[in-house]
Amino acid sequence: MKPLNFPVDYPRIRQVHSFQELVSTPFADCVNALCWERSLPGDFGEVVERLGGGEGIVALDEVGLLALPVSAAGRVAVEWLLADLRLLRAQERAPVLNCIHGYPRDEQPGPVATDVFSFHADSAPVEADTWLCTYHGPASEGLRNDEALRRVDIPATRAELLKLFGGQDDVEFREFLNENCYDLHYAPAPQARPFSFGLGNLWRIAVDYPGSPVPPCIHRAPETAPGQPPRLLLIS
Ligand SMILES: [Fe+2]
Repeated sequence: MKPLNFPVDYPRIRQVHSFQELVSTPFADCVNALCWERSLPGDFGEVVERLGGGEGIVALDEVGLLALPVSAAGRVAVEWLLADLRLLRAQERAPVLNCIHGYPRDEQPGPVATDVFSFHADSAPVEADTWLCTYHGPASEGLRNDEALRRVDIPATRAELLKLFGGQDDVEFREFLNENCYDLHYAPAPQARPFSFGLGNLWRIAVDYPGSPVPPCIHRAPETAPGQPPRLLLIS
């Protein structure tokens, strides 16, 4: 499934036009994703190239970024990265900038894979949200709520999970699903068309927490094939 650009006819995504609007727009009236669409100048590819090879997830810091020997276009990209970090920190958040060569996979996924390649909702015990921007490489992907099925609600999967649990479909079983994050993962419906978060866009998405007024925004990390460029991702 090749992701579409984000669907303009989908009422759960609202486009905003400034950082301030991204911060202050509440998740309400069914909206569970806010996107500040941006076409960022600068050469983020050069930044990634200068960071050199690596493995897994490499956290970047400001000192290291400023020390990279980049061209003027690379410098513009570095300035954007630093500016976004500052904007989020000013909101008392703790953003992380990562160069991602690969993610750990679920080695033995069992009935429900729970790694970031699987469509999922983020969750928190208290009110929270997730901020995301892909600057380079394959972008994060979203799945419309009306095109998603909770994997634990698919009868064959639930039956397998029950077998694994070894008990009845009761409160304890639901706790088991929750403790193992099985209930946060979704299967795309047969006709589903996942969408791309795009490059340079800053997103604020709804997470699953008790009392949330909207359903969570379902998303995943894109598959990264060997030889593909690493991703440059801001997450908070
Ligand atoms: Fe996530």
